[in-house]
Amino acid sequence: MELKKGTVIWFFGLSGSGKTTLAETLNKKLINKGFLTKRLDGDVLRRRLNSDLGFGEDDRKENIRRVAEVSKLFSETGIITICSFITPKEGLRNLVKEIIGRDNVIDIYVNCSIETCIKRDVKGLYKKALNKEILNFTGIDSIFETPKNHCFTVNTEQETIDQSINSIELFLKESTVLEK
Ligand code: ADX
Repeated sequence: MELKKGTVIWFFGLSGSGKTTLAETLNKKLINKGFLTKRLDGDVLRRRLNSDLGFGEDDRKENIRRVAEVSKLFSETGIITICSFITPKEGLRNLVKEIIGRDNVIDIYVNCSIETCIKRDVKGLYKKALNKEILNFTGIDSIFETPKNHCFTVNTEQETIDQSINSIELFLKESTVLEK
């Protein structure tokens, strides 16, 4: 696969849409191909660097701002960074590109309906959100804006993981500069 040094691949979408699975799978493939990569994941980062932040609008923005700044540092070192964050609003997705630089970001929308995410409920959080035990939950009582200006979409309702990964690999091959 051809991938420009310092590219940041940013998966976004609802909780339970499959961002982490896709990011991990792609990461393993890139490592096997000899790329130096770094993974940044919402659940992981929120336990450490961003443990002071919640899920209100300002805190989500600060979460994304910090992660974008960290990604930029990796990007400047030539590392391929693979991020997985809900990034629920267009403004946040634009912020990511402003901070890192548009040319260095490939944002991929992991599309999956809220109904299916609720059915999957991998972490049991939708049940809690629907019972009002958790507030401000994305897709329940906090907005997820349908993206309009992103690079690529995969649909995890209609595709298997392998199909989504293959389409991403094809897209990366076609869209990025030949360099390693
Ligand atoms: S973001 O909106 O700021 O981009 P981020 O990706 O870092 O979110 O974190 C999302 C993860 O936090 C979810 O996958 C879920 O496990 C957990 N979480 C806990 N509370 C919420 C909430 N209110 N809304 C969304 N996700 C939540």
